[in-house]
Amino acid sequence: MKTPVIAPSILSSDFARLKEEVDEVIRAGCDWIHIDVMDGHFVPNLTLGPPIVKALRRHVEATLDVHLMVECPERWIPAFVDAGADILTVHYEATPHVHRALQMIREAGLKAGLALNPGTPPDGLSYLVSDVDLVLVMTVNPGYGGQSLIPSTLAKVAEVRRMLDDAGRQDVHVEVDGGIHAGTIRRARSAGADVFVAGSAVFDELDRAKAIEALRRALDS
Ligand code: DX5
Ligand code: ZN
Repeated sequence: MKTPVIAPSILSSDFARLKEEVDEVIRAGCDWIHIDVMDGHFVPNLTLGPPIVKALRRHVEATLDVHLMVECPERWIPAFVDAGADILTVHYEATPHVHRALQMIREAGLKAGLALNPGTPPDGLSYLVSDVDLVLVMTVNPGYGGQSLIPSTLAKVAEVRRMLDDAGRQDVHVEVDGGIHAGTIRRARSAGADVFVAGSAVFDELDRAKAIEALRRALDS
């Protein structure tokens, strides 16, 4: 099994103190920083764009894991490449040209992620196994932090892990996003996830080190 990666989502952070918030979770021992980009079309919410990623990049060495919840992500890929993202994840549902989007990301030298909404079957992945570095299985409907994990998505995590292993892609990460906390993370791990996005479970706690420690302890339990 791959080493677990904890990726706090800044969606639940205090945006007025973004640098301090990010510094704090890095000091607290997180692995990646998860950045949720929403366009108000693909999901019913608006968040942030390339300038914020660029500003963070100047201060942060940690992996910037950028989750694009935007329609036609291929329009935005160059701007996020310039901004200094390390991983760019696009939604299977967001473009008729998902293969092209993944190719663009890799050609720019970044890691390419494919995200699947809770209602999306993983079948399409079988045509894209050679084109991904990460598969993000949404464990809630995208758009907001603080929702409860949808249990049926864990079966999909297992299916995705199996598809990747069968294709010889043990190197590809399986990421879960939404409703991950100390009470759910172990189940996601058992299903085959190795990257755990946690927004409210980290940023709603005053002591971020304790919050991240609680996630790691739950993984080991
Ligand atoms: C949801 C976002 C998530 C969100 C997770 O659309 O993709 O990254 O911030 O928040 P929690 O961990 O609070 O469910
Ligand atoms: Zn996300």
